[in-house]
Amino acid sequence: LLQVDEARWLRLDRRDGETLRAAAERMLREAICSGALRPGVRLPSSRALAAQLGVSRGVASEAYGQLAAQGFLAVPTKSAPVVASVVSPPPPAGLRAEPSPPPRFDLTPTTPDVALFPRRRWLSAFSEVMRSAPVAALDYGEPRGERELREALADQLGRTRGVVATADQIVVVSGAAQGIDLLARVLVARGARRVAVEDPSLDSQPERLRSNRLEALAQPVDRDGLQVEGLEADAVIVTPAHQFPTGAVLGGARRRRLLDWSRRRDALVIEDDYDAEFRYDREPIRALQGLDRTRVAYLGTTSKTLAPALRLAWVVIPEHLADEAEEVKHLLDVCSPPIEQRTLARLIRNGDYDRHVRRARTVYRRRRDRLMEELAGHLPELPVEGIAAGLHALVRLPTGIGDEAVAARAARDGVRVVPLTRYTHSGGGGGGLVIGYGRLHEASIPSAIRILARAVAAMCR
Ligand SMILES: Cc1ncc(COP(=O)(O)O)c(C=O)c1O
Repeated sequence: LLQVDEARWLRLDRRDGETLRAAAERMLREAICSGALRPGVRLPSSRALAAQLGVSRGVASEAYGQLAAQGFLAVPTKSAPVVASVVSPPPPAGLRAEPSPPPRFDLTPTTPDVALFPRRRWLSAFSEVMRSAPVAALDYGEPRGERELREALADQLGRTRGVVATADQIVVVSGAAQGIDLLARVLVARGARRVAVEDPSLDSQPERLRSNRLEALAQPVDRDGLQVEGLEADAVIVTPAHQFPTGAVLGGARRRRLLDWSRRRDALVIEDDYDAEFRYDREPIRALQGLDRTRVAYLGTTSKTLAPALRLAWVVIPEHLADEAEEVKHLLDVCSPPIEQRTLARLIRNGDYDRHVRRARTVYRRRRDRLMEELAGHLPELPVEGIAAGLHALVRLPTGIGDEAVAARAARDGVRVVPLTRYTHSGGGGGGLVIGYGRLHEASIPSAIRILARAVAAMCR
């Protein structure tokens, strides 16, 4: 129960001819009906209310008694009254509808299995930080992020991804999402007007750019990743290691052309390395940033490796933009949460982060293999792409079969799957299903794919 002995704003506003008791009763009823005093909230004792309103205790008790009789309050014996749950205020206009219940099988491609989160290790590192961190750690942190995390990241990213960075080039951000916002602001301040995104790519990206007053241009993707020819923009957001959502790897020749393009145009390449940690059948390819650290801003996140709820990510920024990026981060939200940053730094330094990623990779690989078996069994004629890495695969549908219709049909039978059309920006539509297997237990995969196959068959008829 919530206590409102601090409801100091309640005031008696007595109308002509109204008794004190009637005025107190009306004032409380109005506060309840307006939604300020919500069901379940405990009100002050009659003695405290009387003192606050400057009336006798008898007047306050009587007002409570009347409201209880009308069903507005519950008055438990020997304690202060509680607002009854029978009076619920009407929801404010424009409030969102209730979220739909979770589907039986969730194949959303953007989320990992958060049930794998290493709670015990996180908690132990967090406790260590709380025990040992100086008092200053509870103050506002550095806008770029806690130095110990930036040092740990510079080592980690160099070792695992071939990123070349000093701690001063790293800005810790609240998700890759904020990383894009931050870079967009830096670009706008430097006079940029147009930023290209891959087509298809994450649906929120064009919107995010437009909200920063940038024009978003859609640049096509093929089996070798982003097509560099015809690229005309001040910057481009790419997913070179595992294109989202097609899973294509940006080929060697394309990488060189993209970097040449950025030098020629003095344009920035934004490398979104969102799921680089999960690679199954082939050696990881070095991050683009490692090939030219003056032209590439590199984005990494804990949203796939640990949990989206942490909102911990990083931008490795070309040196000449680092001070501007720091200023923007300060404007956006001063700094990302310092205690959580120190916790992550500890997890990276003591090896728990790597151990967790290895464990999660084994789990995801098994799920991926099971998904492939089931797809081969139930939808053998459909090509599957992007399976060597990440937490999702793309299944191409036969020409003429609407992916949105298939997804809607699957949703009716309890499977949530994202149609490729959602990630296409040119208006042409997608013709594919983006299947996230991260959060689906192996035992559930056969049933989910059977439902999906039935949905495809129904649309083919
Ligand atoms: C392409 C891509 N980039 C980045 C992210 C991570 O975003 P954030 O770090 O804001 O959670 C995701 C998450 O699904 C993604 O799909």
